[in-house]
Amino acid sequence: MCGIVGYVGKQKATPLILEGLKRLEYRGYDSAGVVVLQGGKFDVAKKIGRVANLEKEVAQHHLSGTYGMGHTRWATHGGVTDANAHPHVSSDGAIALIHNGVIENYAKIKKFLLTKGYSFKSETDTEVLCNLIAYHYAKEPLATNGDSRFVESVRRTLRHAEGTYGIVVMALDAPGELVTARKGSPLILGLGDGESLVASDVSAIVSRTQSVVYLKDGEIAHLTPKNFSITTLGSDAVEPVIDTVTWSIADSEMGEHAHFMEKEIFEQPIALENAMRGRFSEDGSTAQFGGLNISAGEFRTIERFMFCACGTALHACMVTEHLIESFARIPVECDYASEFRYRNAPLIPNTLFFVMSQSGETIDTLAAMREAKRKGFKVLAVNNVVGSTIAREADGGIYQHVGPEVGVASTKAFTSQLLIGAMLALYIGRMRDLSFGSGVRYVTALKGAPDLVRKTLLQAPHIREIAKRIAKYHDMLFLGRLSLFPIALEGALKMKEISSLHAEGYPAAEMKHGPIALISDQCPSVFLVPSGEIVNKIISSMQEIKSRKGPIIAIVSEGVELPAGLADETILIPECHEAVLPIVASIPVQLLSYYVAVERKCDVDKPRNLAKSVTVE
Ligand code: AGP
Ligand code: GLU
Repeated sequence: MCGIVGYVGKQKATPLILEGLKRLEYRGYDSAGVVVLQGGKFDVAKKIGRVANLEKEVAQHHLSGTYGMGHTRWATHGGVTDANAHPHVSSDGAIALIHNGVIENYAKIKKFLLTKGYSFKSETDTEVLCNLIAYHYAKEPLATNGDSRFVESVRRTLRHAEGTYGIVVMALDAPGELVTARKGSPLILGLGDGESLVASDVSAIVSRTQSVVYLKDGEIAHLTPKNFSITTLGSDAVEPVIDTVTWSIADSEMGEHAHFMEKEIFEQPIALENAMRGRFSEDGSTAQFGGLNISAGEFRTIERFMFCACGTALHACMVTEHLIESFARIPVECDYASEFRYRNAPLIPNTLFFVMSQSGETIDTLAAMREAKRKGFKVLAVNNVVGSTIAREADGGIYQHVGPEVGVASTKAFTSQLLIGAMLALYIGRMRDLSFGSGVRYVTALKGAPDLVRKTLLQAPHIREIAKRIAKYHDMLFLGRLSLFPIALEGALKMKEISSLHAEGYPAAEMKHGPIALISDQCPSVFLVPSGEIVNKIISSMQEIKSRKGPIIAIVSEGVELPAGLADETILIPECHEAVLPIVASIPVQLLSYYVAVERKCDVDKPRNLAKSVTVE
């Protein structure tokens, strides 16, 4: 996963590339680099660390060319060093390359290239690809099919490459041309006024143009300032579809917030309103979705649902499982996408698949989806990024409509997935046994969710104070039951991700089967305590922690009376409908991890070792 930007046009390329890289930094921030072609040579600057480091490095060079490309790396092959940073230049100096992905057969290709006299300066798989293009470029004086020699040598190379790639290539003797290709890693072409761009994500090019083409797997594009053409690996011409991006650069800016994560937490009421807009029936008793591409009749025949996703999105699936089983009474299974794709699960015929993915580019989720489709199942996707690979390959789906999420830790994308999951449970439930009256109550509750989230966000200053007190600990537990168990998992994941504090999520009652061994006055537990019949059981679990001197932070529904002195800290959340509860309960766990991370001076938006879209296995 890494960020890629390429530019050919009239402007100085370096400032535009650096601006694009900053917007893509969430995809990887081990190192960054840029190359421009000027005066008949490649000028390269690359540096470990953030794009800001690269900016300082660039100031030492005079990178004034108008063709170039840049990369922000998330290392897979080779350590985080300047030498391993991209761009790479072939040992004969003819080709420069940036790459997102993994070339699985790099060792074999490297062996071959060494026998042909090519040499290597880095430990990356990428440099192997770069030298292989140079090898073909030197060997193929003329292309046979009307394509330029440059495009043809990239095509020939990619026919030998196993694994995944999004690449941009420059050739020393082809100024003003970029060749770009993808398999498994996203690439978007931007078509501007006398300039062309390519990037991993729209945010890096939307300040220059809103006309884009989403490159597909197996396609190669040739870009010049005024033209572009697309062909396939098999040399067929492709008729491009030009899309218009509907959001502007302001949507991906931080405003007055200290971090994107803070901004995205606080914009959740609006995000939820956007995610539900136009999606309730006129009689107010059920949900409706435009793009499912599956009829109500077909839905009626479904006997089982299977949900696959990764990380936070999987937690949203787990809540959805609870709600579908409870309101629609249909069995649901959730699985890690990375496990599902390899475990060869037996599947009953009338199963409908769902994948959930904010980015729509997570390679494990994409692979799980392809595996299900290969087995003949329809797959629907819940996805935020419009035009993503998952959205395009799914049989149908539901867009989250919450705008760009930039913080690496997912927040508004998560709660909108919870909302869409709740709406799905309602939609399916109303096709079965859920009555009109229950449907109306459910819809009313969902419509009220944004205001309940607004109300919960008012607790932020109180949660910030609690965070100051717990920031000193090294371990924590998050405990919840039923639909709040996945929220406990999510709370622990958020805490681990952004504050580097070790946290475990568990079903509250399961805690006594192992994790209780961790409890001491040095290991606090966050309990999610809703109203309802389960509350006394949760209180018993709290007592078990208390008797072992474990500090307790209770996130409690209004109206629940906890025994005096049981919780050391209390955060109140509004009492709400079962379908809304997980959304509202997510807010304090997000705020708690955010403020703990701020207190521990962690890099909230770019946590250590993480990247937002994991497009490698
Ligand atoms: C979220 O905070 C995480 N960074 C991560 O678990 C994420 O949810 C996961 O990688 C899946 O991403 P996706 O939704 O884009 O597929
Ligand atoms: N495999 C390449 C490397 O380790 C690219 C990784 C990426 O996608 O950032 O350099």
